[in-house]
Amino acid sequence: MAILKIARLGHPVLLQRAAPVADPTAPEMRRLVADMVETLEDIGGLGLAAPQVHVSLRLFIWRTAAGGHSALFNPEIQPIGEAIEEAWEGCLSIPGLRGAVERPARIAFRGQDIAGTVIEGEAAGMAARVMQHEYDHLEGILYPMRMTDLSRLGFVEELARFNPPKPVESERQKP
Ligand code: NI
Repeated sequence: MAILKIARLGHPVLLQRAAPVADPTAPEMRRLVADMVETLEDIGGLGLAAPQVHVSLRLFIWRTAAGGHSALFNPEIQPIGEAIEEAWEGCLSIPGLRGAVERPARIAFRGQDIAGTVIEGEAAGMAARVMQHEYDHLEGILYPMRMTDLSRLGFVEELARFNPPKPVESERQKP
């Protein structure tokens, strides 16, 4: 296992559309996932996509609510319903910054696990946000490219120092 170098904003690998993984059960994929998990554990992030470690393949991992890690190969993601939520996001490829990003609140996902088995499910809240953020990496999209208000992009320390009001859900119903 190894801790991998993370590509940072400005590296072209982050802007490429990643290629499908032909065989998620291949030994090199097992090794890649193990290294990505070790890298994510070392940094303490919530999710990591293969292009972030300079591998332009359709694969991401995320930390599960139980504290373990899951891998999804060749993922597909569809929003469920109309609800949109806004929350602050960071990215290991854009260290030190956070930005407020609107995303669908609920998603359905489908893909393959490390055994090649098709897995599908639904996610909401933070899990849905992390999966959409990681999926975007496979499309060459970084979270600032999703932002509609770049005045709400800043360094973590400054945002904390000036204590911005918590973003409200944009779909909050008016009485
Ligand atoms: Ni990211």
